Amino acid sequence: MNVPGTAQTIEQAALSAMERAYAPYSQFRVGAALRSRDGRVVTGCNVENAAFPSGICAERAAVAAAVVQGVNDLEELLVITEAEAPTPPCGMCRQVLQEMAPGLHITSLTIHGARAEWGIAELLPHPFTSGALVHSQAVRNSTRQG
Ligand code: THU
Repeated sequence: MNVPGTAQTIEQAALSAMERAYAPYSQFRVGAALRSRDGRVVTGCNVENAAFPSGICAERAAVAAAVVQGVNDLEELLVITEAEAPTPPCGMCRQVLQEMAPGLHITSLTIHGARAEWGIAELLPHPFTSGALVHSQAVRNSTRQG
């Protein structure tokens, strides 16, 4: 039995999520697991659609699950795919991850055992932030970044 929040648990959680991916169009299954500071793990998988832009990536699905479950202070993201080499989150996911977890550490694995790691600030060094929305102090006050 694994202790919640350990590296093995988050890897297993991401792998289980990947196995539930709905990717009939790309055949590219992605699993993502987010871990919070208090050790809770929330997962997501990619969910595609015949209307292609309607699909969602595993990383943003995991963020949505974390938000609805009230899981804050996200510290770690683990992504797993069946690709040859580890893949970083796409640009849209980087933007979402940066706002929700500006200190996020990202590990990407393949099912073959390859591994890569980044910080979100390294992947998205110049994010668009709520600070740019200068028309409304209320907007800045209501976001995670302030
Ligand atoms: N995908 C993800 O879930 N995460 C990424 O970081 C990159 C791409 C998904 C979207 C689509 O379902 C499939 O992988 C192929 O692009």
